[in-house]
Amino acid sequence: MNKVRKILVTSALPYANGSIHLGHLMEHIQTDIWVRYQRLTGNQCIYVCADDAHGTATMLNADELGISAEDLISAVHKEHIQDFQDFHISHDNFHSTHSEENKHFSYLIYRKLKEAGQIGEHDINQLYDPEKGMFLADRFVTGNCPQCNAADQYGDNCDACGATYSAMDLGEPTSRISGVTPEVRQSKHLFFKLSEHTDFLNKWTRSGTLQAAVTNKLSEWLDQGLQDWDISRDAPYFGFEIPDEPGKYFYVWLDAPIGYMASFKNYCDNHTDITFDDFWKPDSTCEVHHFIGKDIVNFHALFWPAMLTVAGFRTPTSVHVHGFATINGEKMSKSKGTFINARTYLNELSPTYLRYYFAARLSNSIEDLDINLDDFVQRVNSDLVGKLVNIASRCAGFINKQFDGKLTRQVQCDLLASFSNQQQQIAANYESGEFSKAMRSIMALADMANQFIAEEKPWILIKDPSTKDRAQQVCSDGLNLFRMLMIYLKPVLPDLAQKAEQFLNCGELQWSDLSHQLTDHRINTFEPLLKRIEPRSIEAIIETGKSDETSAQGATTSRYEASAAVEIDIDTFAQVDLRIARIIQAQVVEGADKLLQLTLDLGDHHRTVFSGIKSAYTAEQLENKLTVVVANLKARKMKFGISEGMVLAAGPGAKEIFLISPDSGAEPGMKVT
Ligand code: MSP
Ligand code: ZN
Repeated sequence: MNKVRKILVTSALPYANGSIHLGHLMEHIQTDIWVRYQRLTGNQCIYVCADDAHGTATMLNADELGISAEDLISAVHKEHIQDFQDFHISHDNFHSTHSEENKHFSYLIYRKLKEAGQIGEHDINQLYDPEKGMFLADRFVTGNCPQCNAADQYGDNCDACGATYSAMDLGEPTSRISGVTPEVRQSKHLFFKLSEHTDFLNKWTRSGTLQAAVTNKLSEWLDQGLQDWDISRDAPYFGFEIPDEPGKYFYVWLDAPIGYMASFKNYCDNHTDITFDDFWKPDSTCEVHHFIGKDIVNFHALFWPAMLTVAGFRTPTSVHVHGFATINGEKMSKSKGTFINARTYLNELSPTYLRYYFAARLSNSIEDLDINLDDFVQRVNSDLVGKLVNIASRCAGFINKQFDGKLTRQVQCDLLASFSNQQQQIAANYESGEFSKAMRSIMALADMANQFIAEEKPWILIKDPSTKDRAQQVCSDGLNLFRMLMIYLKPVLPDLAQKAEQFLNCGELQWSDLSHQLTDHRINTFEPLLKRIEPRSIEAIIETGKSDETSAQGATTSRYEASAAVEIDIDTFAQVDLRIARIIQAQVVEGADKLLQLTLDLGDHHRTVFSGIKSAYTAEQLENKLTVVVANLKARKMKFGISEGMVLAAGPGAKEIFLISPDSGAEPGMKVT
């Protein structure tokens, strides 16, 4: 028996000013697979995360909505938690950087840095928006590039020629917040003396905590010489005020990684069997693993270990860095419909598909990962439905119907041994983050299982009384093969594994269950495990993706992010024929989870419309209600019939869908103008 490892794992903290999207999900699914693998093999593994709540963007978004920053982040927090849960991300705690615990550790670490003489201060000049009364971060200023004179460039670098510069060198600078010309003002800033830690970081980044490619990238920076790090921002700012520095706040990136500790501390306070100090004391034998994207490596592999060391804490065991998710070969983009939010995906498809797809593509490299949507459909349908689920559905029916659910007393198939022989290799690939290699081996095993069944042909054996026993043997062996595949895949497909455990009637599967088989055992009735992806769902996701907001509840879209939304002129809008309709009948659609079939009265005729509002309304609630229908929408053939139009509703989905309903007095058939 190996020693049980005690492991703390984190994913980067998503900003509290936007929705969870497929890029975040890639990271959380990657982390979650690793975490679930650890737990499956018997290690103690605690997975925490939080919202990164502080900073200028949160403050400005809240201002614009006319709500407090606290109200904004708490609404977003709920949404993020729900999104992650629905993708089966098994966080043990999802906290916030705007928390008491985080304030405590931020102050503690700052105090230690200060006591150690690691905080310096000097005045810096910066652009200031006199109208809004605040200093402007680089991305809140635009102007002409000092190199090539291209207009409308951000304050740090030029899209046209690639030059990097200081915002103060921009020609004709403009504040993106108020539109006025900013002025230069001076203010005192506090700095962490990072440059004094160059020797430590040279060693630490080469100590096996990082992937080779990351170490190489960092040594370029280290060779150029490290700059001290500006950790303060002037009011107004949403964050923690710095002790003894009135009007100065910690820069969001100072307290963000401390948020990992804060979330863990909050977890420990509710779980007395786990002790914070065991994990964070300098000589800890527990492990700490961070999973992050390549854009935030400097914060995690330079500033963070240096700060931790000075403050008397342990440094991370490992920082696992991944590349960026792109979609159909390009950065996620709203105009192409590839800026896909978690909820947009979930409204159409099961999380199981995406979890498998990422697993099938992820490795330990920091290369970007392209989600080609055709490849996604093809691979999921072929591997999960065509190979994996197929094994169970080919065998379970016969066992259920012909043998009263009973598996044979013994297993016979040689393949079972070769399946179990792969466990070290597959385990090693999970451990090192080479998930695509693990998936390849597992699917090769699934191919072998299918081949075995195809050769034995239980559907023929079953017909002849002299070979009927053999049919039972083949199907029992087949189900045991399937069970082993499900153990291997359980970190990736927890939902499917649970369904399999249910029908195999075998309790919670563990990695150690690979060493024995189910014999002389009664299984439960088999229910279909997974459907194929319909290409139509992908079209729907892309369509919605075009109107997806980067931010939380639609309404919270920051104007800084929303500028890419497509504008239409009044004539284009006038082409949409909106009419008042009365819902005269609403019916449940057999086999459709989300749809209701509505019969609408439009004054002079009736129409049938399918609407995805079942999660929010019962049929009875809708009958006799007035609503607005897009009357000239091309009829669409759907799986359950033809939809002749669309009713209008608002909201993020699930229970929060609100049918648009006119005031009384409106009559069916009236044109909406
Ligand atoms: N709030 C900071 C992280 C603080 S950690 C102490 C932040 N937030 S973020 O929302 O912008 O990004 C969160 C994580 O998602 C980062 O690791 C980032 O690399 C990752 N990704 C954001 N977009 C991504 C893709 N398109 N693809 C893959 N990962 C991406 O940075
Ligand atoms: Zn330029």
